[in-house]
Amino acid sequence: MSSDDDPTGNAEATVTAFERLGGEAKVRQLVDHFYDLMELEPAYAGLRALHPSTLEGSRDKLFWFLCGWLGGPSHYTDRFGHPRLRARHLPFSIGIAERDQWLHCMAQAMDELGIDPHLADRLAAAFFNTADWMRNR
Ligand code: HEM
Repeated sequence: MSSDDDPTGNAEATVTAFERLGGEAKVRQLVDHFYDLMELEPAYAGLRALHPSTLEGSRDKLFWFLCGWLGGPSHYTDRFGHPRLRARHLPFSIGIAERDQWLHCMAQAMDELGIDPHLADRLAAAFFNTADWMRNR
């Protein structure tokens, strides 16, 4: 590592959530498990109903987005520019119930993949802020 990467001499300081999670392979696994649960679990039927009939496009977009959001490669913005995430969610009616289904589905996916609980807690807090900001009713 060069001194540019780590001016403090503390390797911990430069490790992104993306790296800590396990890079692209793990982000892909997380997104796939999240959408598998959304398809399977009756508790997330309301959330599933907001999505298109096939989830392939949704899987790719969330994967690309999360890579950058976690501090990894900017696949989403390379393709689509600024995420404008709140605007892109305006076509969908999102209240507390939809927000909480999204968050529970993601928490279950992280838990079942055995993601380090400390990291999962930090991510859950960040997901909460983003999901809450998406509410439009
Ligand atoms: C609050 C509850 C949420 C609901 C109900 C919801 C629902 C949806 C739906 C129905 C779509 C369209 C899927 C498609 O076009 O294939 C979508 C797209 C997307 N969502 Fe969410 N979402 C929520 C929260 C989040 C959060 C917290 C994130 C990120 C951390 C996120 C990231 C995305 C991304 C990146 C897209 C693709 C946008 C695009 O390029 O069109 N969503 N969401």
